[in-house]
Amino acid sequence: MSLWKKTVYKSVCLSLALLVAVTVFQRSLTPHQFLQEPPPPTREPQKAQNPSGHLVNPNSFWKNTKDVAAATPMAPPGPQTWDISSTNCSANINVTQQPWFQGLEPHFQQFLTYRHCRYFPMLLNHPEKCRGAVYLLVVVKSVITQHDRREAIRQTWGREQESGGGGRGALRTVFLLGTASKQEERAHYQQLLAYEDRLYGDILQWDFLDSFFNLTLKEIHFLKWFDIYCPHVQFIFKGDDDVFVNPTNLLEFLADRQPQEDLFVGDVLQRARPIRKKDNKYYIPGVLYSKASYPPYAGGGGFLMAGGLARRLRRACDTLELYPIDDVFLGMCLEVLSVQPTAHEGFKTFGITRNRNSRMNKEPCFFRSMLVVHKLLPPELLAMWGLVHSNLTCARNLQVL
Ligand SMILES: *[C@@H]1O[C@H](CO)[C@@H](O)[C@H](O)[C@H]1NC(C)=O
Ligand SMILES: *[C@@H]1O[C@H](CO)[C@@H](O)[C@H](O)[C@H]1NC(C)=O
Ligand SMILES: *[C@@H]1O[C@H](CO)[C@@H](O)[C@H](O)[C@H]1NC(C)=O
Ligand SMILES: *[C@@H]1O[C@H](CO)[C@@H](O)[C@H](O)[C@H]1NC(C)=O
Repeated sequence: MSLWKKTVYKSVCLSLALLVAVTVFQRSLTPHQFLQEPPPPTREPQKAQNPSGHLVNPNSFWKNTKDVAAATPMAPPGPQTWDISSTNCSANINVTQQPWFQGLEPHFQQFLTYRHCRYFPMLLNHPEKCRGAVYLLVVVKSVITQHDRREAIRQTWGREQESGGGGRGALRTVFLLGTASKQEERAHYQQLLAYEDRLYGDILQWDFLDSFFNLTLKEIHFLKWFDIYCPHVQFIFKGDDDVFVNPTNLLEFLADRQPQEDLFVGDVLQRARPIRKKDNKYYIPGVLYSKASYPPYAGGGGFLMAGGLARRLRRACDTLELYPIDDVFLGMCLEVLSVQPTAHEGFKTFGITRNRNSRMNKEPCFFRSMLVVHKLLPPELLAMWGLVHSNLTCARNLQVL
C-alpha cells in the first residue's frame, strides 16, 4: 500500500517536473541550456595542492594583523570576473593526522579537513546586477529548498526599485546560494532554481554545499563577488531569509551617511563567549578557538555596511583562516581593520524580548519602528508587511520591551 502511494507520489512529482520543463522550453530556453548539469563536484582526495593550507596553531587567528592592516590600502586591484573555474581542493592530511583530530565531532572534522578550500566556481552569476547607480544592494542568504521565502522577500522588503534610494540610486536584491546539501535534492532542485533565476535574475550560486559551517564560505564568496562586480554600490544590507526588514527605515537611517564611512551597524554583541556546550548549534571546541571571548560582531540576521568597507573587508578576511560561525568570522575580519561595529536599537536579530508571548511579537507599530526583526516565516512576513503598510495609527512613543 505505502509502496503504491510512493509510486503515485513519484509519478506526480515527475509530471510536475515535466510541466516545468515544457514551460521552460516554451520560454525559449534551448534544450542544451536547460539540460546543462552543473559540473560534478570533485572533492576526492587528489594531489596535495595547498601546502600552506594546513591548520596553523589554532590560536593564531590574529597573526600578522598589524602587517595586514597596513598592507590593505596597497592591495593590487583584483580580477575583473569570477576567476575560479574548477573545484580543485584535496583533503588536508596534516590536520587529519593530528592527535586531537580524532576526538572531534564529525562535522568539525569535515570543516577542518577542507578549511583551506576557500573559493569555488560560480554556477549562477549576474555580473550585470550592480550596473548603473545602485544605492543599496540587498543581499539575502538562502538555500535551494527555501523558494517560498525568496518569493515572499521579492514581494516585500526585497522588491527592486530603480529609484528606491529616493534620488540616490536603485535598490537591488540578490540571493546567495550554495548547492543542495542532500544528494537526492540536487538534480531536481537545481533545475527549478535555474528556472527561478531565469524569471527573476537574482540568484548568485556557488559550487559548495549549503551547510551551516559553509555559511562562512558564503560570506567570503559574496565579498569577493561584490569587490569584482559592484565597484560603485554605496551600501549593502545583508541578512537572512527569515527576517522582517523595513527598507523605509533603512533608507532613512542611511540618508545622512556617507559610503566612504566605515559604517557597519547591526545587533552587536560585545565580548560574547564561545559556546562550550556540545549540544548547542554554536558549540566550538577549545582546539578551534581557545580565547575566552569573541571580538565584537553583529548578528548575521541583518546588518548594514558601507560599500567601501565591504571591499576592504574582503582583503582582511583573506588573511584569516575560516571560522565556522559566519558572523563571528566577519567580526574577526573587522578587527583586522580595527573597525568597530556599531550597535543600533532597531536591529533585533537575536529576538525581540525574552518573552515569547510578548505582544511585541505581533505588534505592527513595533515592526514599523524597527529596521530588522527576526524571525518571520513567509505567511507571517506577508501579513506583517501588509499591516505595517496599512493605515496604521501608532502612538508616538512606542514602549519597546
Ligand atoms: C589542481 O591543482 C594542482 C596544483 O595547484 C594543479 O597541478 C592541477 O593541474 C589542478 N587540477 C585541475 C583539474 O585544475
Ligand atoms: C603538511 O605539513 C608539512 C610539514 O609541516 C608541510 O611540509 C606540508 O606542506 C603540509 N601539507 C599540507 C597539505 O598542508
Ligand atoms: C563545504 O562545501 C565543500 C564543497 O562542496 C564541501 O567539500 C565541504 O565538505 C563543506 N563543508 C562543510 C563543513 O559542510
Ligand atoms: C489611508 O489614509 C490616506 C490618507 O489619510 C487615505 O487617502 C487613504 O484612502 C487611506 N487608505 C485606506 C485603505 O484606508
